[in-house]
Amino acid sequence: MDAITCIESRRSIRSFDQSRPVSHETIERIVAAAAFAPSWKNTQITRYIALESEAKEKLAQCTNIWPKNGDIIRSASAVIAVTFVSGRSGYERDGSFSTPLEDRWQYFDTGIATEAFLLAAHTEGVGSVVLGLYDDNAADVIGVPEGQKLVALIPIGYHTDSPACPPRKTAADLLSYRS
Ligand SMILES: Cc1cc2nc3c(=O)[nH]c(=O)nc-3n(C[C@H](O)[C@H](O)[C@H](O)COP(=O)(O)O)c2cc1C
Repeated sequence: MDAITCIESRRSIRSFDQSRPVSHETIERIVAAAAFAPSWKNTQITRYIALESEAKEKLAQCTNIWPKNGDIIRSASAVIAVTFVSGRSGYERDGSFSTPLEDRWQYFDTGIATEAFLLAAHTEGVGSVVLGLYDDNAADVIGVPEGQKLVALIPIGYHTDSPACPPRKTAADLLSYRS
């Protein structure tokens, strides 16, 4: 699959084939590919915690804010909690901020890495969806290490459904030129 086809054909998958788990080898290939995402001064701050079985079930209970996300998590083979190591991206060596965007580059880097993860998963035939709606206690339930910040949850799994593509803006909508 070429890159444009991969980008355009990836869809958010919210229902998975529970009889077909995603192997650790496959998860590791996806994470290894996501490691090639660009990052602030190559700081590579994004981390992935794979939750399976009981850990995944406990996490499914952290979705009172949007209970449908709990159903997606229960259906998934695994959930990948995406975190970042705080205090590196966007910072100078002396601890000061490099730009007026201050520490927001941490989220920028994690977003880029997440898209790389989603596309690598899609290439492997593994469906995924980014979940931003989860309860405040999710980081504790996951056991996010000290010094890391939880950003998103990515349920993954094999799937048979092919959701339609939600409408997209055109290049003319999105792009402007200056000269
Ligand atoms: C930051 C972020 C947070 C999201 N949070 C949720 C979520 O909590 N629940 C959900 O079902 N989908 C969530 N989504 C998925 C979007 O709804 C989806 O990407 C969008 O509708 C476009 O559909 P597509 O991914 O199939 O192209 C999120 C996506 C992003 C990027």
